[in-house]
Amino acid sequence: MIILGIETSCDETAASVISVENDKVTLLSNIISSQIALHSTWGGVVPNLAAREHLKNILPVIGTALEKARKKPADIDLMAITAGPGLIPALLIGTTTAKTLSYLWRKPLIGIHHIEGHIYANFIGDKINSISKNQISLPTGRQAIAKENSELNIKFPILALVVSGGHTQLVLMRAHLHYEIIGETVDDAVGEAFDKVARILGLGYPGGPAVEKLADNFFGEKKFKIILPRPMLKSANFNFSFSGLKTAVLYATKKNPENLKDPNYISEMCHEFQTAITDVLISKTIHAAKKYAPKTILLAGGVSANKNLREKLELSVKENLKNTVCLVPELGYSMDNATMIAMAGYYRWKNLKAKKSLEKTWENMETSASLKL
Ligand code: KG4
Ligand code: ZN
Repeated sequence: MIILGIETSCDETAASVISVENDKVTLLSNIISSQIALHSTWGGVVPNLAAREHLKNILPVIGTALEKARKKPADIDLMAITAGPGLIPALLIGTTTAKTLSYLWRKPLIGIHHIEGHIYANFIGDKINSISKNQISLPTGRQAIAKENSELNIKFPILALVVSGGHTQLVLMRAHLHYEIIGETVDDAVGEAFDKVARILGLGYPGGPAVEKLADNFFGEKKFKIILPRPMLKSANFNFSFSGLKTAVLYATKKNPENLKDPNYISEMCHEFQTAITDVLISKTIHAAKKYAPKTILLAGGVSANKNLREKLELSVKENLKNTVCLVPELGYSMDNATMIAMAGYYRWKNLKAKKSLEKTWENMETSASLKL
């Protein structure tokens, strides 16, 4: 079957086409039009500007996705759209467009929870035999790698560490589409903390990649002796808190504002901040895994693009959990994209098919979107 995925929850207008036969997935196109340049002048995403850009780009992006996939609307069997959560003006453009096209083309439409999409980004591509099939040049200059995978060997229960701009959660999945939140942030999300710290240090938007880049410049000698807290590291539950960490960065820089002119100070601060975040995330994940004994640990959400986090999580799982496999999404699918929405759409469709409730799919827009995730 051919699935068209669409995503407009924040500052990327994205559309993808995948083909699935007997759980064998082939990526046919993955188009992402990014608004980073527009929002960076404002230091963050401005919801109404995002909606205006989505409105301008959505039909060309969908058109390009179909064209690159060499498919016509008539070839589509299923559409999947991010129904929430996200910026309301941005979501409205995607959902209204998808509903209209689904009505016009007479195609079933499934609404997907954005975080469910991020989790299913781990199901894109064969982690073991990732053979590049063809490289598609995207209008934004990003590259998508189309490849085939046989049914991924992902075993349940899965423990997903969700780290995005709006979410930080530990989610236990005992089966496809079943989510139990066993811990989450009580204040800022990890990505939000990265973005706020970047702003404090004058690094611009988006903050995560900027902080990571400067942390990489730190060569190990702690000239400024910066030590940040590891919030809730020893708490008995699996919750997180990052706002105090961000405030610690703010107070340290306010105390000696002249330090902000020193690139060594910025690098040391970025490195310490990134390490503090990684320490807490990994320690909590390993503790949760010891309690729930998952067969697989997944990383999901935009912050999964962070190399330090990816590498340390993989290493830590290997060292501490002998029977658990650690998966991270391929870099091209860590941040917002529509392929992950199409993937999640496929599993939701399979579930509806099993329940024989396909005729009313587009009334099921809420099935995934209303999940507490
Ligand atoms: O998943 P995502 O694209 O959007 C949401 O669903 O929120 O995540 C965006 C977040 C931003 O806060 C961004 O700063 C962060 O992911 N991010 C990173 C990195 N790349 C993106 N954080 C740390 N290191 C990165 N390399
Ligand atoms: Zn996202």
